[in-house]
Amino acid sequence: MDLDRFQEEAHHLVDWLTEYRRTIETRPVRAQTAPGTIAAQLPASPPVSPEDCRAILDDFERIVMPGITHWQHPRFFAYFPANATPPAVLAEILTAGIAAQCMLWQTSPAATEMETRILGWLALMLGLGEGWHGVIQDSASSATLVAVLVGRERATDWQADDEGLGACPPLAVYASEEAHSSVEKAVRIAGLGRQALRLVPTDADFAMRPEALDALIRADLEAGIEPACIVATLGTTGTGGIDPLARIGEIAQTHDIYLHVDAAWAGSALVLPETRWMIEGLKFADSFVTNPHKWLGVTFDCSAHFVRKPDELIRTLTVNPAYLTSQETGRVVDYRDWGIPLGRRFRALKLWFVLRAYGIEGLEAMLRRHIELTAELAGWIEADPAFELTSKPSLALLTFRYRPQGQDDTALDALNTALVERINDDGRIYLTQTRIRGRVAIRFSIGQTDTERAHVETGWAVVREIAQTL
Ligand SMILES: Cc1ncc(COP(=O)(O)O)c(C=O)c1O
Repeated sequence: MDLDRFQEEAHHLVDWLTEYRRTIETRPVRAQTAPGTIAAQLPASPPVSPEDCRAILDDFERIVMPGITHWQHPRFFAYFPANATPPAVLAEILTAGIAAQCMLWQTSPAATEMETRILGWLALMLGLGEGWHGVIQDSASSATLVAVLVGRERATDWQADDEGLGACPPLAVYASEEAHSSVEKAVRIAGLGRQALRLVPTDADFAMRPEALDALIRADLEAGIEPACIVATLGTTGTGGIDPLARIGEIAQTHDIYLHVDAAWAGSALVLPETRWMIEGLKFADSFVTNPHKWLGVTFDCSAHFVRKPDELIRTLTVNPAYLTSQETGRVVDYRDWGIPLGRRFRALKLWFVLRAYGIEGLEAMLRRHIELTAELAGWIEADPAFELTSKPSLALLTFRYRPQGQDDTALDALNTALVERINDDGRIYLTQTRIRGRVAIRFSIGQTDTERAHVETGWAVVREIAQTL
């Protein structure tokens, strides 16, 4: 494609994207296609001759778009948000167009230096306190994996890295029973085995019970099992549970265990001073992760991972072949040593764009609006005798279930599963389900950048309307 053509098509594409965003509310939130429909429209083999770009874009609209779930739709209440604000999209266009591969300082000094600086901004904005060194990972799952690996190495004095786990005592990792599945995945990838994961019971607010954590650690120590890592969660995926960091931190310190904090979703709310009670005790943590790609308007992927001791991280992950050294090695930050993949995109750019375009004030206003709307929705649910809250609002997440009289829990599980399916087939809103203490509940997660009161009102009206048809 020559550059004149590129320019023409790029203008067309930006016009298309602008119109898409302008009219997004006319689309069903969740893709309404049956499995296999999109694949059936794609040829089984690649084209032999070049095709015109406009034909590709036409097919994109005709074939691909019906199979897209619209995460930027203001009535998207499923999972957690994955927001892509316009400034972030602009930065993504630049990142893709410049296409620098930023594995070393030398392979784009601006990318490395901006990443260090902007994560410093973020640490200030979130009130994380002094002594953190930031890196952008592709996902919180990667950050948690890295944390488990560093915890493993610290617990074995880097013997696992050197001789393998066979040479080490058995290890254990601790997280609440409500922790995200990425913790189990990390434990398995780290070679510890699923059985090394201790799921700590939670209290009535779905937060880890510290005394249960302490008891599990003591039992392991007595049995000759070495604690490698504790993962505390701020904002669990199912219910938004917030583990008591201060107490967990003291336990980690007493037993000298690596402490990682997974605030993948809830961490964004730390922009608001009134939610910073969540990080009381963060001084005990060795690492912390939050995803600006969830609730802070930065396109996926952008996971902000902060560590106290980068040298431990580097020692755990670095491999130094001759072809990756540069004349600056040892004098600059080479982020290739801070994560699993070697290659890295220029992800700090979109964070810089978003933080500048909205400012702390703009982000505060959005986060407060979402939290206030969630509290308001909780009031509407409580006022309706046919429904019940299954967990209190935590920031901008609550769970509820439909509970018409005279049905037992098994029947209610089936009813609520059917309700979620019917709602999502309807397309006006998108919700997802979870299980709370074994029972089906519906999550209502408010966080899309453009979500206003009217969207939440529609959301609640749709839930009630469809429930009555069951
Ligand atoms: C608490 C928590 N941790 C980790 C993750 C995983 O995030 P990522 O997709 O960035 O790996 C999620 C995803 O929703 C989450 O809710």
